[in-house]
Amino acid sequence: MNILLIDDDQANLALLTHLLRAIPGAVPIESSAPCEALEWCRENEPDLILIDYMMPKMDGLQFLEAFRALPDRASVPVIMITADTQSDVRHRALQMSANDFLTKPVDKTELRARVTNLLALRKAQKQLASRAAWLAEEVRKATREIVAREREAIHRLSRAAEYRDPETGAHLLRLSHYAALLAANLGLDHVQQELIRDAAPMHDIGKVGIPDAILLKPGKLDADEMEIMRKHPQIGADILKNSTCTLMQIAATISLSHHEKYDGSGYPQGLSGEDIPLYGRIIAVADVFDALTSARPYKPAWEIDKAVALIRDGSGTHFDPKCVDAFFKDWAAVMHIYSQYRDENAA
Ligand SMILES: [Fe+2]
Ligand SMILES: [Fe+2]
Repeated sequence: MNILLIDDDQANLALLTHLLRAIPGAVPIESSAPCEALEWCRENEPDLILIDYMMPKMDGLQFLEAFRALPDRASVPVIMITADTQSDVRHRALQMSANDFLTKPVDKTELRARVTNLLALRKAQKQLASRAAWLAEEVRKATREIVAREREAIHRLSRAAEYRDPETGAHLLRLSHYAALLAANLGLDHVQQELIRDAAPMHDIGKVGIPDAILLKPGKLDADEMEIMRKHPQIGADILKNSTCTLMQIAATISLSHHEKYDGSGYPQGLSGEDIPLYGRIIAVADVFDALTSARPYKPAWEIDKAVALIRDGSGTHFDPKCVDAFFKDWAAVMHIYSQYRDENAA
């Protein structure tokens, strides 16, 4: 336990140091200049300060005021040494949260008792602080684990859907990254960008409820088949709804709204404009762009230019114009995602 002694009188310093050395665990550090001692305290945290009140340049009260104003120095115990007659000084020192006093000439027994008490207090204080820090770290760790498990659950759920769906894992990866990029370009914060990136792979989870004959049909769907296929947003939302987990809630929203169109001609609810949740409007752009530029069992991959033209054409009708603008804001980033996550069987 470091005890900082501040007194302009060298003889007093030597005497106090001598007395303190007799206390187990106490390591006295001498200073005859309060200004220098204050500088030292910026970098070092003493466990206790013993300071004389009467000093030239900076007295004990001035030191105490400046010391308490330093960051993280409010709880370091301070004993002020005053003359017996200076009760006004003691009152002011108490206001500046001095912890105890000693009267000159210092009584050996009294010094020992007061220093020992305050060092015990300091020790308890430090243990409490390190316990609090340990607990805070444990909470952080537990939270990280919960988030990791939520992500894992979602990942596995998406893989289950992938098993039946001709849409590939690479599609889900590209879609996630397009969606996060779009969110960033729209000015959404980092947390929201991550949420949409992690929730996007579940947009078509409802396809697990669509019969194989329709889901895997190589040709175009007829009107009846299309009607059944159009149930997948609602099925997905039913699978994901009523969760207390934010990520699941967003995934449910995305599932339900990713086939809505800006002009109200989409499904299942026929919502229009900003009534369509923003996450759904973002996924609509990213999903269609990726579906067009990928090969599917029933169609080859489109040329990029043709897909770009269709997205631009759909601005204001199929897609939210703000989302279309955000998608084209950083074209190099889109192309980077496009080429980074290719389908395994693609050229
Ligand atoms: Fe879909
Ligand atoms: Fe998709």
